[in-house]
Amino acid sequence: MEGYAAPGGSVRSTSARSLSERDERGMAEESREEIFTRTEYRRVIAWKERIRRESPFLREVLGEAGGRRVLDVGCGTGEHTRHLAEQGWQAVGIDLSEDMIENAATLAGAIEGAGSARYERCVAAEAGGLPDAPFDAAICLGNMFAFAEDGRELDSWLRGIAAALRSGGTFLLQILNYERILASAIRYLPVNFRPLSEEEGDGEIVFLRILTPRPDGDLDFYPVTLTLRPGADPPVEIRSARQGKHRPWKRSEMEAALERAGFRVDRIWGGMSEVPFVPEESYDLTLAAVKV
Ligand SMILES: C[S@@+](CC[C@H](N)C(=O)[O-])C[C@H]1O[C@@H](n2cnc3c(N)ncnc32)[C@H](O)[C@@H]1O
Repeated sequence: MEGYAAPGGSVRSTSARSLSERDERGMAEESREEIFTRTEYRRVIAWKERIRRESPFLREVLGEAGGRRVLDVGCGTGEHTRHLAEQGWQAVGIDLSEDMIENAATLAGAIEGAGSARYERCVAAEAGGLPDAPFDAAICLGNMFAFAEDGRELDSWLRGIAAALRSGGTFLLQILNYERILASAIRYLPVNFRPLSEEEGDGEIVFLRILTPRPDGDLDFYPVTLTLRPGADPPVEIRSARQGKHRPWKRSEMEAALERAGFRVDRIWGGMSEVPFVPEESYDLTLAAVKV
């Protein structure tokens, strides 16, 4: 049984994926899981600032959805789930990674006002089976869809999310804009710097994300975390380095896949604010779709 919630919140124990299913799914998901846990994803993002920046846009788009139940797909350590719970939503965060879900539940327990957030290990394709479904809205932020191996997997994730929504429910999805990345032969994403913890002393964690085009059209993705300590010998050390793969979905492919899964694409932006989408310039591809 795999289910977690913040102390004070509801605790459900629902097995989202049986062991035999996990075996059949093979290695791909296990290594995807490792990519995020091993890169200390929680520590390398400036979460407070990010949530503050994205909050007005989330309020605007999700506010239009009506209702109170929201699903955060690929919630990671649950920052958006907690934020939405603080805003009065009944928020459920799901992730394929057990570590992420455990961390999300622990963090929510430590933060006052986040008690209505609930976390569960569940993959996108199976979101329709969640006990809280149907939801009024769903979000999937932070480029999760780039980790779908192919169109078949993309479709299964989107169908799972559609199955978790009520008809008329809103789905907000954000991935990188690969049209810009490919057109400008971009080889890295913006570098993040975060302070080390007090116990670790002076210095910073540096988060690098390297992209390398592959012959098959996908991109190799190397998330790397470094410790930077000025004056130390050596001053820079590798904390972790992983290799994954991004599928560089284009806007037209995402739109077609959403429609196949039973959504109507409603609006498209170039980031997590109401900026227009410009194929060769926008940093992100952000779509709002309505479950038909
Ligand atoms: C880059 S993180 C994004 C975290 C957060 N949503 C954000 O906006 O930063 C992607 C997350 O999606 C999860 N994930 C990847 N594939 C998934 C799937 N098929 N179903 C559910 N979660 C998945 C990973 O474990 C990881 O925590």
